Amino acid sequence: MYICSNCQKTYNKWQGQCENCGLWNTIVEVENPGIQIRGAKGRTKKESHSQISIKPIKLTELKDKQTQKNFQLITNIHEFDNALGGRLISGQVILLSGSPGIGKSTLCSQITESFSKQKKNVLYIAGEESPSQIQERIKRLKLKHENVYYYPETNILEIERYVASNADKIDVIFADSIQTLYDPSLNSSAGSVSQISESTNRLVNLAKGFGITTFIIGHVTKTGDIAGPKILEHMVDTVLYFEGEKRFEFRILRVEKNRFGPTDEVGIFKMENNGLAEVRDTKELFDPNKEESSGSVYAMVLEGTRPVVVEVQALATRSYFPNPRRTTSGFDLSRLYILLAIIEKRLKINTGELDIYVNITGGIKVSDPALDLAVIKAVVSSIKDQVVPKTSIYFGEVGLTGEVRKVLFEDKRIKEAKRLGFNQIVCSKNLKSVVQIKS
Ligand code: TYD
Ligand code: MG
Repeated sequence: MYICSNCQKTYNKWQGQCENCGLWNTIVEVENPGIQIRGAKGRTKKESHSQISIKPIKLTELKDKQTQKNFQLITNIHEFDNALGGRLISGQVILLSGSPGIGKSTLCSQITESFSKQKKNVLYIAGEESPSQIQERIKRLKLKHENVYYYPETNILEIERYVASNADKIDVIFADSIQTLYDPSLNSSAGSVSQISESTNRLVNLAKGFGITTFIIGHVTKTGDIAGPKILEHMVDTVLYFEGEKRFEFRILRVEKNRFGPTDEVGIFKMENNGLAEVRDTKELFDPNKEESSGSVYAMVLEGTRPVVVEVQALATRSYFPNPRRTTSGFDLSRLYILLAIIEKRLKINTGELDIYVNITGGIKVSDPALDLAVIKAVVSSIKDQVVPKTSIYFGEVGLTGEVRKVLFEDKRIKEAKRLGFNQIVCSKNLKSVVQIKS
């Protein structure tokens, strides 16, 4: 069993911090607790001079032991820093989730390099990849990684032991990924809810106890939540989602929760051959030379507080199914049903015998209601097989009565559309009702 050499609280398993007195690294294993405890009280003889020595500690010493680092960090990756409100602080715990292969480890390696250049010591817990995989990435990204220590340990108790006794030499920890860490005393396997909660809990305690900024990397599945990072969100300070689709280059870093800065901001990246590049000008997100075709409509949506152009593509074809098909990618399917009902009722266009597919190109997901108008326009464009000029852009929320509503930051969107060269901007400002889209 285990005992705290400071306050003598006993434990069934080892842990880095004593829950009773709050000290770190005071818990030691004892073979025969009976002897040790008696020894501690000074009642017994020679055997009591064993591996544990229980020393009372003065308050000042206690403080020394608990010394927290106090620093601020910037990654110098503008899209990242900006989304997070400028800086990270010591002890901050950041959960970075995203689907496998999206680029989480790549992003973390690039952030790691930046910290390393600033002479911060980084411990990179690499539970997922082999040394050669890691080396390959580091080579591909041309990183120096001078102050980075790779640590292929996945036993969270070992990690805790190591970190607690080397905390003065560690500024930042990356745990890649949380699904690979495990506590051997739990019965469940790595990746289960209890294992990832336990490991996160211990990492959070280390981060807070020693002021180590900690990145926890978590995989989410396509559906979003299996045994997933979702359940960890309340335990951490900051929650980031890295989104996109593997076969497309664009990646959006979304700030879902942020105890120390703004939320709802985004960073935009693209995955290139030598790592993630920042997309500072959203002009890059669309191709002005694309061929015009029916069913394709540009929309100006908001990502965070930034207006971004996306292309909506719709395809409406005669259905051969008893229940016509409707699918979407990149936006909410139930919203499509509503918009189709609006088209049916307000524009008097029959959609009941058509299969209708709607995509946002580039693997981007949009939840901005301003997309409504562009989706309606794209569907109608496909049904009528009429091309919408690529110099036009549409945005606005569409109500059930068919009215086009004003959306947030309308003027900002108009300004951005003008900057990008759109010469027909269709939004609530210059529309009275959705019926007008027909013309
Ligand atoms: P990775 O960061 O390993 O994803 P995650 O940690 O989220 O699972 O990224 C994996 C993909 O990114 C992989 O398919 C290869 C691609 N990639 C590039 O296109 N360019 C690069 O420079 C790197 C390092 C990876
Ligand atoms: Mg990875």
